[in-house]
Amino acid sequence: MSKRNIVLVGFMGTGKTTVGRLLSEQTGMPLVDMDERIKARAGKTINRIFAEDGEAAFRTLERQIARELSAQSGQVVSTGGGVVLDPDNISDYEKNGLVVCLLASAETILERVENDNSRPLLAGEKREKILQLLETRRPLYEAFEHKIDTEGAPPESIASQIVALYETNLEISR
Ligand code: S3P
Repeated sequence: MSKRNIVLVGFMGTGKTTVGRLLSEQTGMPLVDMDERIKARAGKTINRIFAEDGEAAFRTLERQIARELSAQSGQVVSTGGGVVLDPDNISDYEKNGLVVCLLASAETILERVENDNSRPLLAGEKREKILQLLETRRPLYEAFEHKIDTEGAPPESIASQIVALYETNLEISR
């Protein structure tokens, strides 16, 4: 028997990395950040991957990493917000993990990403970009069985809720 993964999905700025760090501390499982893996594999920043190779190349790398990580167990995975665009990513992660989607309002997302220019899809008019992307992606995030509204909730309490959910069904049979 091995431990399932915990996989955090959600739009940019919903707190996946912060909650992922806390989950890693609380469970003792390592945190794997998909964007960090993608950067290491490409040998460049996400901005440069988008600018030099295009979004499709980024999505191909993201798909590869999702396939690899979902074949491993006992880790906390923090995904990039666009991982939901390919349903295969989600079905792979669901085979071996508890997938939890974090939600936040556009205003909160804007506050959290305002001073960070590492996200190519938000370059320029951030508020507009967030509203547009949220409009097209909202159904994808809302479709998850396990969703947590992060609005006004401290990251510690979100992590504790996820651990409680995880502990009700810890192991997977192989
Ligand atoms: C993206 C989200 C980013 C990163 C890339 C694309 C998206 O990750 O993967 O910039 O399409 O939503 P975060 O959600 O960690 O910001």
